[in-house]
Amino acid sequence: MLRSHTCGELRLSDKGKDVHLSGWVQKVRDKGKLIWIDLRDRYGITQLIFEEENTPQEVFEKAKECGREFVVTVKGEVIERLSKNDTIDTGDIEVVVRSIEILNESEVPPFTIEDNTDGGDDLRMKYRYLDIRRSPIKDKLFLRHKLLKTTRDFFNDAGFIEVETPVLIKSTPEGARDFIVPSRMNKGEFYALPQSPQTFKQLLMVSGLDKYYQLVKCFRDEDLRSDRQPEFTQIDCEMSFIDQSDIILTFGLFIKHLFNEILNVDIGEIPIMNYDDAINLYGSDKPDLRFDMKFRNVSDIMKGKGFNVFDDAESVLAICAPECSTYSRKDIDLLTDFVRKPQIGSKGLVYVKLNEDGSIKSSIDKFYSVEDLKKLSSQCNAKKGDLILILAGEKSQNLNAMSELRLLMGKKLELIDNNIFKPVWIIDFPLFIWDNETKRYHSVHHPFTSPVLDDLKTLKNEPEKVKANAYDLVINGVEIGGGSIRIHDRDLQEQIFKILGFSNKEANNQFGFLLDAFRYGTPPHGGIAFGFDRICSLFAGEESIKDFIAFPKNTSGKDVMIDSPSEISKDHLDELGIKLSD
Ligand code: AMO
Repeated sequence: MLRSHTCGELRLSDKGKDVHLSGWVQKVRDKGKLIWIDLRDRYGITQLIFEEENTPQEVFEKAKECGREFVVTVKGEVIERLSKNDTIDTGDIEVVVRSIEILNESEVPPFTIEDNTDGGDDLRMKYRYLDIRRSPIKDKLFLRHKLLKTTRDFFNDAGFIEVETPVLIKSTPEGARDFIVPSRMNKGEFYALPQSPQTFKQLLMVSGLDKYYQLVKCFRDEDLRSDRQPEFTQIDCEMSFIDQSDIILTFGLFIKHLFNEILNVDIGEIPIMNYDDAINLYGSDKPDLRFDMKFRNVSDIMKGKGFNVFDDAESVLAICAPECSTYSRKDIDLLTDFVRKPQIGSKGLVYVKLNEDGSIKSSIDKFYSVEDLKKLSSQCNAKKGDLILILAGEKSQNLNAMSELRLLMGKKLELIDNNIFKPVWIIDFPLFIWDNETKRYHSVHHPFTSPVLDDLKTLKNEPEKVKANAYDLVINGVEIGGGSIRIHDRDLQEQIFKILGFSNKEANNQFGFLLDAFRYGTPPHGGIAFGFDRICSLFAGEESIKDFIAFPKNTSGKDVMIDSPSEISKDHLDELGIKLSD
């Protein structure tokens, strides 16, 4: 061992000890006759001191040669520091160095290896191995490790078996595009990387494994956002002989356990909300419940008073922003610009101010009497000093726009606290969604999801009315996990494929193996998959999952460090039987 202690370990109680430390040079302060070096490793930083008078000359000279990020090993004695540093754990001591060896030199790093680095995102990604030396990134990987371990311990203790499923597979229909891998041995044929191990975990239930889990890489070729990476990790789970309430209980306990173990937080009972309520009250199937500001449907009050914008609208919704009646013209204009952005698509924003003096001022005074506006206020539970914001439009656009406006107001009013956690199970999703472009139904979850059995009678004639036996776990407005009770009956599965527009041949081509398996005694089963990277970022109170992944892709799906994806040689392409068009 090139060390007796780590750089984060020594305390005042170690005073007088002879120690041997190794690590990276974080900082050198050369005061002529006195040199200090901050030595860093994974565990912390220890200050080394070299005094010209008392240090052997060759050691003092070597210390002068040390630059940032040199790897050195030193021996010396622990002493009490004169001026203590209470920002680090080792801040009461320093090590008087007796001998030093430079194990490896370093070029000047492209950015400072400090908590607040001068390196921009691109540079940090290119030299990610240096970025990971910085505490903010390193700490995130440690959090990830702790979560991985706690997850494995939980499922192992609960009698689940971890099974690895293949990575070179056939396309799975999770709704994104597949990443494709050409096969050299079967020219013209391709594997797909799994978007999830969905069909395999179901097959493992047919095999009788009963309780499965896997911490597994999934691959989805979709546009990146802060909570999406093309390559991400799921905690993938499946159980047999269970129903929805068993899943909600088991996996609710799992999430509570993670919060308890890692953050020492009790998130309490996880409420259950049905999809329709989530949409009508928050305009989203991932409602952020850290603040209230529910939508009010104010069509009844606002329609029929001669204001065309409302009269002609399919939906008129209001929210109440507490204590915002003092908003200036400029404040309201900014909100109006926000809702008019093309991706939100509202035509305008109507406001009603309930002034502290009891008067009411609105942008639609012309059309509405004070009585009308009072009715509106009471419908919105608004009080003196509040501001009511109203949007109108086509139903789904309006719900979405109001959801964005609600989140914006939540942020503006600082109602969103990253240190609190508001989980909710969303259930009773629709099974299908009609796609106007392709003129066919798509599965809201995936094609293996069981309909709610009471709705089977409408499956044939009104598929859009059928509810799915599916559930999502949403925490602080982020979809952390989702799953469903599966179809385990071959006929019903075939019927669903038909509604989704698969011919018998197509269904057999793609999922024949699953339909075949259903011939041999399939237990009722269901499961869930959690987005592990999202759990990591949630636990750290951050929005982006990128820094919780050691080597992530950038927003163009590239790993700029290893320069991937990259071209391959013509010979390689020929071997794979692939011709590129110009
Ligand atoms: P689903 O597609 O909902 O379900 O995925 C499960 C969870 O995975 C996370 N997730 C992602 N995280 C990071 N980057 C991405 N690109 C990404 N895509 C999804 C989300 C999501 O809730 N096989 C089903 C599960 C099941 O039915 O059991 C599935 O994959 O947190």
